[in-house]
Amino acid sequence: MNAPKRNILATSALPYANGRIHLGHIVEHVQSDIWVRAMRMAGHTVHYVCADDAHGSSIMLRAELEGITPHALIARVWNEHTADLRDFGVEYDHYSTTDSDANRELTARIWNALKAGGHTESRPVKQFYDPVKAMFLPDRFIKGECPNCHSKDQYGDACEVCGKTYNPTDLINPYSVVSGAAPIEKESLHFFVKLADFEAMLKDWLTERRGAGGLQGEVVNKLQEWFTDGLRSWDVSRDAPYFGFEIPGEPGKYFYVWVDAPVGYLATFREYCDAHNAKHPDCPIRFADFVEREDAAKSGTEMVHFIGKDIVYFHTLFWPAMLHGAGLRAPTAVNVHGFLTVDGAKMSKSRGTFVNARTYLDHLDADWLRYYFATLLGPTLTDLDLDLKGFEERVNSHLVGKWVNIASRCAGFVHKFFGGKLADALPAADRERYDAAAQKLCACSSLYEARDYAAAVRLIIEIADEANAYVADKAPWLLAKDETKRAELDVVCTLALNYFRLLSIWLSPVVPTIARRARKFLGEDWTRFDAAATPILGAHLNAFTPLTTRIDPKYIEAMIEASKESLKSANEASVGAAPAATTPFIESIAPGAAIAAPAKALGSPPAATISIDDFAKLDLRIGKVLACEFVDGSDKLLRFELDAGDLGTRQIFSGIRAAYGEPERLVGRHVVFIANLAPRKMRFGLSEGMILSAGGGGADLFLLDADTGVRAGMAVK
Ligand code: MSP
Ligand code: ZN
Repeated sequence: MNAPKRNILATSALPYANGRIHLGHIVEHVQSDIWVRAMRMAGHTVHYVCADDAHGSSIMLRAELEGITPHALIARVWNEHTADLRDFGVEYDHYSTTDSDANRELTARIWNALKAGGHTESRPVKQFYDPVKAMFLPDRFIKGECPNCHSKDQYGDACEVCGKTYNPTDLINPYSVVSGAAPIEKESLHFFVKLADFEAMLKDWLTERRGAGGLQGEVVNKLQEWFTDGLRSWDVSRDAPYFGFEIPGEPGKYFYVWVDAPVGYLATFREYCDAHNAKHPDCPIRFADFVEREDAAKSGTEMVHFIGKDIVYFHTLFWPAMLHGAGLRAPTAVNVHGFLTVDGAKMSKSRGTFVNARTYLDHLDADWLRYYFATLLGPTLTDLDLDLKGFEERVNSHLVGKWVNIASRCAGFVHKFFGGKLADALPAADRERYDAAAQKLCACSSLYEARDYAAAVRLIIEIADEANAYVADKAPWLLAKDETKRAELDVVCTLALNYFRLLSIWLSPVVPTIARRARKFLGEDWTRFDAAATPILGAHLNAFTPLTTRIDPKYIEAMIEASKESLKSANEASVGAAPAATTPFIESIAPGAAIAAPAKALGSPPAATISIDDFAKLDLRIGKVLACEFVDGSDKLLRFELDAGDLGTRQIFSGIRAAYGEPERLVGRHVVFIANLAPRKMRFGLSEGMILSAGGGGADLFLLDADTGVRAGMAVK
């Protein structure tokens, strides 16, 4: 473990600021976060940054739709994104936005350098234009009839029904999804970067980086295909109105979002360096060492990007070319991962498998998913499947059954018989056992480094199995019953807990929160993998509290239900409200985003017919309100405690606060509630059902009542 120390700038792709973080994004942030933690534990220096990608037409139009400025939108989304990532244990040194002064400056610098080097050109381009909205339309904002299969409402680039790709000009009866108007063709001047100028440089870079492990073989092969078609110039300008940076000296022309997005990596790092250096003038981080070509070559720093397979082109052609043309260093590595599917299929809003990070966190622990993703992640572009049943089983069997249980089985004895102190020494045979396990696990360091987390975790679980076999064989619970065997018990518990510690050290990049609890229990604060080389002997343990629990499948069900619910409200938002043309637009700019939705109001159309069997599935009951109160931290919810007769008492959170401002007045009355709705774990506690009320939402809500004589728990039929 004495490899030379590396000095690395690491990034994840910048999430678009037009929607929530979902579990697909989480794959990437977890992959990079594990890598950064592991590299640091191996002794390397890593600066880890990310930002919101805040520019582009989608964000501009989305803000307009919500009736706010783009700045207000990106500020709100930044808050959501950073909270979601933090709560998934992803710890960036700095998380910024591409809409920053630092980014404006750097983008301009790079552009000016490209221009000065003769690598830019301009020429008129004909494009679809929305005459009502007075703006040019990106392909995704044009729909029409597929020229091939004649399906209606297909996007301007490809038909989702027959799969054919085409140009927007090929669509039959095209319309703008922004205004519904028929687009016209209009010409305007565009600016380009001459990619062909960089062909030789890019080829060299690919060859060099492939050898050095900075690019996956699959990626290089794909890129070589692109070269055979020749590199066309890249259109980097967009016309006003556009939310982004104006091109210096070209009024009304803006940089296409994909120009300033990757520059955002560097601008974010710049801000980080400035803040760090102001605080620690004695040990500055030199921005130039990571960014300027000559300085980077001299100082041997690295720049490592983590991205998904859909944005390879931008990161391995445009980005290195731009950097090179501006005298800056090219990336050392572009690590590409595959896409997340859920239960074997693309994430689907109607099945409830398009899960936002926050919805997951409302129901389940972050470390559980981090662990599960780690068991799937390898160094290739293969897609990953979140198999919900497998997720539950693997977390329960590995994290709880094989790892945490070692500690929970032995900690009690150490406290009961040995004053909470581990033995001062291990007999030679036991020490050898420990050393052999520790030695084997050293391999994890290079497995983490190579992003083969699945292999690292497999090895860790192998050692966990060995530890559990040892504990089962020694049966400390039997030794504890025999007073003459205290010394043996002491050794068994000491070795078992050292096994537990060893596993905890090597798992800590993957499950940082559980590992933190393990450190607290063990009373130490390791920061390096090296700590695993020596067992802790004679150490004092803190009280053992369960480090994690088993996953109850009802929480997974509740998460899926809740994901369906947010879709339901998004659908309802469009009922009779917006003109037809804007509905697909909402979807196209806000996949999975929860747009504030009015509930079904007066005069909503009757729902589809159901059978009596469908109705019988609902277990509707009478509940008597035992307690009702405001919920701290929520301006919508009331917390109810219901007497549900035979069903016992139920806690239910209900979003009717605006209509019932004096909750204590509800105590004693009867309400109707759904007793067999999957329980939902909320930030405030578990909600075990749903109380029915009539009305349009907000203050316009009315609880249902029942005639005198009704009793708690009675079925409503
Ligand atoms: N804003 C651009 C990136 C700019 S980087 C200079 C972007 N944003 S994104 O929000 O659409 O995606 C961010 C990252 O999440 C990308 O690397 C993308 O591949 C990844 N993923 C988005 N959906 C995903 C899955 N379903 N599965 C795995 N990763 C996915 O692209
Ligand atoms: Zn078609």
